[in-house]
Amino acid sequence: MGVHHQGFADFAELPPIMAAALGLQLHLVEDALAAAQRGMERFVHAPIMGPYRETSQLSFRTGVPQVAIRFLGTGLYRVPAGLRIKVAAPASFPAPRLHPAAALFLEIFEFLSRQANFCAPGGFMNLTEFIEGHRDQNLAELVEFLRIPSVSAKSEYKPDIERAARWVADHLRAAGFKTVEIVPTNLHPLVYAESLEAPGKPTVLFYGHYDVQPAEPLELWTSPAFEPQSRDGSLFGRGTADDKGQVHIHLKALESLHQLHGKFPVNIKVLIEGEEEVGSVSLWDYVQNNKEKLRADALLVSDTAMLGKGVPSITYGLRGLNYHQIELTGPVRDLHSGVYGGAVPNPLTVLTELFAKLHDKSFRVAVPGFYDEVAKVPAAERKALNKLPWKRKDFERAVGAPAYFGEKGFTTIERLWIRPTLELNGIWGGYQGEGAKTVIPSKACAKFSTRLVPDQDPKKIAKLVEAHIRKLLPKTVHCKFEVLSTGKPWVAAYQAPIFQVAQEALQKGFGKRAVFIREGGSIPFVTQMHDTFKVPCVLIGFGLPDENAHAPDEHILLENYFGGIKAIAHFYEDLASL
Ligand code: BES
Ligand code: MN
Ligand code: MN
Repeated sequence: MGVHHQGFADFAELPPIMAAALGLQLHLVEDALAAAQRGMERFVHAPIMGPYRETSQLSFRTGVPQVAIRFLGTGLYRVPAGLRIKVAAPASFPAPRLHPAAALFLEIFEFLSRQANFCAPGGFMNLTEFIEGHRDQNLAELVEFLRIPSVSAKSEYKPDIERAARWVADHLRAAGFKTVEIVPTNLHPLVYAESLEAPGKPTVLFYGHYDVQPAEPLELWTSPAFEPQSRDGSLFGRGTADDKGQVHIHLKALESLHQLHGKFPVNIKVLIEGEEEVGSVSLWDYVQNNKEKLRADALLVSDTAMLGKGVPSITYGLRGLNYHQIELTGPVRDLHSGVYGGAVPNPLTVLTELFAKLHDKSFRVAVPGFYDEVAKVPAAERKALNKLPWKRKDFERAVGAPAYFGEKGFTTIERLWIRPTLELNGIWGGYQGEGAKTVIPSKACAKFSTRLVPDQDPKKIAKLVEAHIRKLLPKTVHCKFEVLSTGKPWVAAYQAPIFQVAQEALQKGFGKRAVFIREGGSIPFVTQMHDTFKVPCVLIGFGLPDENAHAPDEHILLENYFGGIKAIAHFYEDLASL
C-alpha cells in the first residue's frame, strides 16, 4: 500500500470540528485508493475540504499546529485506476506549522485534484466541469442505448423493446432513482421512476420515449441504423435525435446532479414510454388510472427540435394527429387484367382518384367543415413567428425538392406550425415485384394522416373525413376505414416563471438566448398532461429539423447533445429556486 498510513492515527488529536469532517473524507479517500490499486477507477463522493491558507495563525488548541480546514461543500473526486500515492513528507505546506496528519490530508487532496484533470483549481468540481469531464463516458453509454433496436411498430422487435425498457430502468437507478418500475401495458412497457426527497421544492415530470421508428429502407443508411457512428460532428443512428439521444440527455443531467450533490435538487417523476412512435395507445389509460402518481407542477419534454443550428428553442405549440388506414376492395380476388380489364372497376385506380380529390387548387383540404374550428392565430403571434431567425435556405437544403408549394395565403412557417394538413403516408396494392404481372388487384390500401391545430377536435375531424371519403367513393368498392391513433393539438402560453428558468438554463448550456417556437410534429402525451393537470409544459428540443428523424441517416449534432446535458442539468438545478 503506497499510502503512508501512520499519519491517519494522529487525527484524533485534531479539534473535533476538523476530525469529524476529515474522518469521513479520509475514509472515502482510503477506500478509493484501495480500489484504484485494484485497477478500478473510482469516484469518491465526499465533503470538499480546503485549507484556510491565509489563516495560519488560527490555533485550535495549544500544542496543535496552526492550520484550519474549511468545508467547501460536497463534491466528487475521481481516483484514476492504478493510482499510488507515496507521501513521505508534506511538500506543499511548510512542515513546522502543520500537523503531520493535516499535511498528509492536504497532500492527498492536492494530488487527487491534480489527477482529476477536470477538477477546478480549488479541488472541487462544478456542474459544468463535471459534465465536461464525462463527455466520452456519456457518449459511449448513449451508443450502447442506441444499439438496442427498440422499434415499436413491428412485433419482431418485441424482445428489443423489452431490453430497452430494462436498459432505461437500470440507468434511472444508476442516475440515483430508488423507485423505478417497468409497467407492462397491452402493447409495450413504460418505465416510471420517482424521487420525492426534496421537501418544499417543486415536482416536475419528465416525459420521453425509448421506442424508435423502423429503420427501413436500410440500404439508404451510410452506416447501419443500429450501429451508431460519429461523423462530421454528429452521431448517426436510429433514435439519436428522436428520442433516445434526448432522453439520455436528461438521464445524464440528472445523474450528474446526483453524483455531485448526493441528491436531486427538486422532486422528479420520470415517464419513458415505448409506444410514442405508434401513437401512445396505452398511455391514455395509464394517465387516467394514475393521476395522483403523475401529478406534478410542470411537465418537461425533450422530443422536439431547435429552430436551427445555434438557436436554442422552447416549443409552445404542437399539431395534433389523426392517423388512418383505408382498404378498398373490388373483385373478390386479383383478376387477369386482359381477361377482365375494361369491364371491372380497379380499386387501385379508385384510390388514386380519391386522393386526387382531397385537396383543392389552393392546397386546402377539401373536406367540408375541416377548417370550421381552426382558431384564429392573433396577428401579433403570426408576426412574432415570422420574425424568428428561421432560414429558408436551411429548410430547402433539408428537403431538397425541386420546388415548394403549400396552402395559399400562409408563409412556410405558418404552413408548418399553425395550419392543418392532410397527407398521404403510404399507398399499396397490386403487383410491385420484379418484371410484369398483369392483374387487376382485388384490394388497394392507403395510410394517411391529418395534422390538426387548435381548436380542431380530432374525433370530429375523423368523422368529417370518413364521411367525405365515403361520399366520394363509387359503389364499385367496399371501404374499410380505420383510425389507428389520434392526438390533440396543443398550444400554451409561456408566461409562467418556469419558462424564464428554462431560458436561463439554455443560456448556460449554449451561451445563446432561446427563442419560443411552435412545431408541426405531434406528441400525444403533451396534450394529455396539459388537459389533465393544466400545468406548464416545457418542451426543450435538442434535435435539428434536418437531422433526418424517421428517415435514413438520422443523427444528432454532438454539440447539441453535450450542450443539452449542461442546459438540462442547470435547468433541474435552477428549478429548486422556483
Ligand atoms: N418527436 C416526434 C414529434 C415531433 C417531431 C415534434 C418534430 C416536434 C417536431 C415524435 O416522436 C413523433 O414522431 N410523433 C409522431 C406522432 C405519433 C403519434 C406517431 C408524429 O409527429 O408524426
Ligand atoms: Mn419523438
Ligand atoms: Mn418520432
